[in-house]
Amino acid sequence: MRPLHLPLAAALAALLLAPAALPQERSEIEKEIHDWGESVAKKIEIQESADVPAWAVRPGEPRFRFVQIADIHLTPAKEELLKSALRYVSTEVRPAFVVLTGDNTSIYSIEGHRRLKAILDEELTCPYHAVRGDNDARNFWVVFGSTHWSFDYGGVHFVGSGLDRDIETVGIGTFSEETWEWLRDDLARSSGRPTLYLQHEPCLPPTFLDAPRLALLLSARRNVVGVLNGHLHYDLEFRLAKPHLSAIALGQNPRHGIKVYSVYPDGIVAQTHVLDGESFRAARIFQRIDFPERLRLSGDEPLEISDRRELPAAPMVFDEELKERYDELRLWLKRFDSK
Ligand SMILES: [Fe+2]
Repeated sequence: MRPLHLPLAAALAALLLAPAALPQERSEIEKEIHDWGESVAKKIEIQESADVPAWAVRPGEPRFRFVQIADIHLTPAKEELLKSALRYVSTEVRPAFVVLTGDNTSIYSIEGHRRLKAILDEELTCPYHAVRGDNDARNFWVVFGSTHWSFDYGGVHFVGSGLDRDIETVGIGTFSEETWEWLRDDLARSSGRPTLYLQHEPCLPPTFLDAPRLALLLSARRNVVGVLNGHLHYDLEFRLAKPHLSAIALGQNPRHGIKVYSVYPDGIVAQTHVLDGESFRAARIFQRIDFPERLRLSGDEPLEISDRRELPAAPMVFDEELKERYDELRLWLKRFDSK
């Protein structure tokens, strides 16, 4: 897949893109940036190809599959859409597990999170693991527990994380020092295994204040083979040494979709599945995550969740004073855009 560089406008969209339930009205300038950025993101979204790339055609079954569902932004009006996606996952894809990468609900009361959990528990026939986004940060921890977790499955290490301090429904925040320590330790412990890092907000492009620091940490860890995000709502891809995939949203994009990851001994093939009329179908949108030779799977690794670790569940700290650091983030975005 051709590497994409994100124009500044689309990166700015990451700051302000489509929060479904802002506690206050957007200012004129925020609206202008949002509309401008969204139009650019639409232009660079990965489109269906005419053919299936040769590297995506593999003999035999993958070791296992997992599914990413991003940006459900659940409201009562989207419940049928979510149920239909989950039924498709349970009956057609049959993954080992599902990861929810934030903005899982737009109703962030405890009841809103509980409603989402009830639907997941009813419709999914496999385990699921969730991180919080900017729109659902309030009360996530009460129902879904910690947003900082890791586990092994089939020889691959998965690390989920999320911001600890933020402006509510914006997603420009920071991690606590405890989280930094936990992440550094976790990534060091998994140095012999291909590792995927999952977070709602992308660090590439830098959409939050700690993004450059996180990008450095992930780049330095050679076991990190890919980064999976949501937040931008469009199917986008950026590569800086390793692939950073921003997933199509289930609930927000004009195209509703999920991502299916097929794990092979030498890497992962990602494929977008989209809602087409009344039902979901596999689209010809493929991406790849390669494993370096020393991290390739033997095929003997147990197909079960093991070595599960997590930080204690804690609420998001909402901090309006982070608005004073918008210029700092704009500086990172400009640097990114000039590369
Ligand atoms: Fe978001």
